[in-house]
Amino acid sequence: MTSVPDSIAGLARALRRESIADLFRRDPQRVPRLTLSWDDWRVDISKERISPEALARLVSHAESLNLPHWIAALFAGEKINLSEGRPVLHTALRQRDDAPLAVDGRNVIPAVRAAQAQIRTLADAVRSGARRGATGQPIRSVVHIGIGGSDLGPRLVCDALPPTADAIDVAFVSNVDPAQLSRALAPRDPATTLFVVVSKTFTTQETLANATSAREWLAAALPPGADVGSHFVGVSANVPAAHAFGIASADVLPMWDWVGGRYSLWSAVGVPIAIRHGYAAFASLLAGAAGMDTHFRTAPLERNLPVVLGLLGWWNAAVLGHSQRIVVPYSQALARLPAYLQQLTLESNGKRVTREGAPVSGPTAPALWGDTGTDSQHAFFQWLHQGTHVVPVEFIVPVRAQEPRGRQQTLLVGNAIAQAQALMIGRGGDALQREVATLGLPAAQQHAAFAARECPGNRPSTTLLLPTLDAPNLGALLALYEHRTFVESVLLGINAFDQFGVELGKSLATPVIAALADANTAIEADPSTRALTIHARHLAAKE
Ligand code: F6P
Repeated sequence: MTSVPDSIAGLARALRRESIADLFRRDPQRVPRLTLSWDDWRVDISKERISPEALARLVSHAESLNLPHWIAALFAGEKINLSEGRPVLHTALRQRDDAPLAVDGRNVIPAVRAAQAQIRTLADAVRSGARRGATGQPIRSVVHIGIGGSDLGPRLVCDALPPTADAIDVAFVSNVDPAQLSRALAPRDPATTLFVVVSKTFTTQETLANATSAREWLAAALPPGADVGSHFVGVSANVPAAHAFGIASADVLPMWDWVGGRYSLWSAVGVPIAIRHGYAAFASLLAGAAGMDTHFRTAPLERNLPVVLGLLGWWNAAVLGHSQRIVVPYSQALARLPAYLQQLTLESNGKRVTREGAPVSGPTAPALWGDTGTDSQHAFFQWLHQGTHVVPVEFIVPVRAQEPRGRQQTLLVGNAIAQAQALMIGRGGDALQREVATLGLPAAQQHAAFAARECPGNRPSTTLLLPTLDAPNLGALLALYEHRTFVESVLLGINAFDQFGVELGKSLATPVIAALADANTAIEADPSTRALTIHARHLAAKE
């Protein structure tokens, strides 16, 4: 399960001997055979170093690892997060009908519907001006405080959907760096600002520190004795801790331990989406994700988008050995997508042991990074075209613009399609020789001039065209990546739903912070950590 079967390794060896361009010459049907469709989407993997035969072999491999069983287990609410003994039911949050779904013998769908009603009520109250602060003025802007999965998803969606005239201003504060909170607060009026504090555990240091500072800011600005708590809403699975912070019961929206943080934007964690864009937009997002869920659950493996992209991801990383993966959305609205996908894929699959606790024999999740096109063309694409690392690229291209600016949109889409072509075909040969000859350089410099301009090509990419970036398509896109990440975890044999690596740094920070804050507190640590802490304390004292 964790190693690459010989037959798959053999196919990879053979494919490495050919250029991707040659694969097109050998198979005139390559594009239709390696293009997937869903709704109006088109996912072209023909520019990857893969063949239809290799893909079919990967599908058989997935079957031999019981992928269909794992998919069914996910949707059925089985406890597939084995290390924590929990089900993984983000799909229940977007389930369209009310078919019962039991966790420990209890149907969770009524709780999901109740939470959705709370999200709608709160969003409507803020948007209509009915929600008022301590001085009786209507709430006009929102500051969302949360980190990791309690930030990245709602922030991405709030940014990605086009703002309408009635959109509510929402700022996101995740970092414990005080500069972020200060900048969010500076333009706001305390009397009309609502804070949404999102923390599944309600113990996360960064979130609690920022929420406490926000409360102090309100208390200092509002009239003495004002009800500061009325400016807070909480989203948490730890309701007593939210109450202890001072948030009224009616203002604490639920989270559940059967939804992982990085899969939680579909829950009340997404409440800022409904506040900013309206509940209807939030519901459309859920409906789009539900459409992808149905596809993932029912489509044959070889035509199943998350399955094929998951197989391809595993092939690129574990079989061909690419240790990186680049995502380039040709959409300014998706500027936060790479950051969101970093948490989704790396917190999920950045593991080193199988779900049974044995070491994984090959590499697990590749590093993921990226930025928007066309900006990234003027930053790291030079490295992609002519550098020594070969990294598969995913081009995500919403074809129709959110804003009516035809000329720019055509440039955007045209560049995306052409970049994938350029990565594959490169540049060289006689045409480049002739071009260099026209430069009039001395003969001794001709070779270097040619070599500097030559692009080797043969660099793999996937292109995903979607009709436009509206709420349903965005929901489907994010669900696609969630499921693809799950497929990759099944191929790796690992549990995608825990994140114990994050805990170590959190616990080690406590004594360092204590020693920074108080010169009399000694720190038990290695000599380097001790020296850094003491020097930081000296520097801080010079403030
Ligand atoms: O980064 C680790 C993590 O536990 C994430 O999984 C989670 O999304 C984030 O911290 C925030 O946790 P919480 O919602 O409990 O504040």
